[in-house]
Amino acid sequence: MTDATEQDRRLSQLSADLNHTLIERLATAGKLTEQAWRTAFEDVPRPLFAPRFTLPDNLGGHALDVADGPRREEWLRAVYQDEALLTIFDEREMATTSCSAPSVVAIMLEASQATEGDAVLEIGTGTGWTAGLLSHRLGSAAVTSVDIDPRCVAEAQERLDHLGLCPTLAVADGYLGYPAGGPYDRIIATASLRQVPPAWLGQVRPGGTILADLRGNFAGNLARLTVNKDGSARGRFLPERVNFMPLRSEEALADELPGLASRAVSAPGPHRSTGLGPAALRKWDFAFLAQLSMPGVRAGRIRSKGEPLYFCLTDPRSESWARIAVDASGGEREVTQGGDRRLWNELETTHELWTRLDQPRPEDFTIMVSPEGGQVVTLPGIDERWSLPL
Ligand SMILES: C[S@@+](CC[C@H](N)C(=O)[O-])C[C@H]1O[C@@H](n2cnc3c(N)ncnc32)[C@H](O)[C@@H]1O
Repeated sequence: MTDATEQDRRLSQLSADLNHTLIERLATAGKLTEQAWRTAFEDVPRPLFAPRFTLPDNLGGHALDVADGPRREEWLRAVYQDEALLTIFDEREMATTSCSAPSVVAIMLEASQATEGDAVLEIGTGTGWTAGLLSHRLGSAAVTSVDIDPRCVAEAQERLDHLGLCPTLAVADGYLGYPAGGPYDRIIATASLRQVPPAWLGQVRPGGTILADLRGNFAGNLARLTVNKDGSARGRFLPERVNFMPLRSEEALADELPGLASRAVSAPGPHRSTGLGPAALRKWDFAFLAQLSMPGVRAGRIRSKGEPLYFCLTDPRSESWARIAVDASGGEREVTQGGDRRLWNELETTHELWTRLDQPRPEDFTIMVSPEGGQVVTLPGIDERWSLPL
């Protein structure tokens, strides 16, 4: 046996072992519970869909490629980590496509409630892995997957062909759905959205479901809605946590106002002390309510030359901002605010509400979408209502 053949044999065995370990880990964590999806994970392995990628920053942020012989084992081991792998970048070096983390893919497949006989539309083909897993279980004829990036669709097509899978793939703006393949029993979005796209309601059969990560600039959650006969949809947010990159057609709406970030870190404004620090927004449950209450507002750490590090809230629409110096100490801090809205005051009011309501979690909220497009989130038993988009 030549050295190359021996290496191929060894890596092929390693791949099978790593896949088995990954599947067991997902099953033990309760994320991969249905046998049919387990079998799909066994037969549609991830490496084929991630021949080259960049690791996320927490794993070193470096690139790995199956064609890099000496580092092939490192590539293979990275593929089987439960992490998103970044596969395509734009001119600003921002990732525009990834192979979602295996646990996230498993959560989406199980939460979709897709089963034999269902026709499914996936928004966000990406590497093609999810489309492959869906096709394995439901049959290729039942699966349609669209991506706005023609390169994703072309590469996914090649990989799926290799496995003998042939779902319908198309280059399309998923915000508009894909009426040509409908009606569907399920629409699954693997890119996040600020609201449920109105076009989807007419492309799902009554009783069918929409599964999407509804997310604003700093928080959001997975929601599953059932479509009704009258074209409305109703559902709830789920306890599972995912965090998809935003759907690109909507992204322009969220663009930062040029100069607002530098105003946020250096403009003078009224200041006062506050007991609410930025760490509050690290609590997913609170961040979710804050996102509902303050749609369109951005949150982030900003450093400008010669200034300390600030945590800022900015609202491009009202050109409002709030900053708070980031330091390790807890307790009272000073907040400075400017613009028509007092963003930190709003955050404090939301925190008081969240505390008064006994700290509700995303899965306590319901969502209702009317056929005319209005989208309302409610908390059963409470009068308060919040509107989407986030
Ligand atoms: C997280 S990736 C999807 C991962 C994929 N499901 C997989 O299994 O590899 C998100 C994808 O959404 C795509 N996307 C972004 N905006 C879109 C849009 N408006 N319509 C369709 N796809 C879009 C991106 O190009 C990207 O490939």
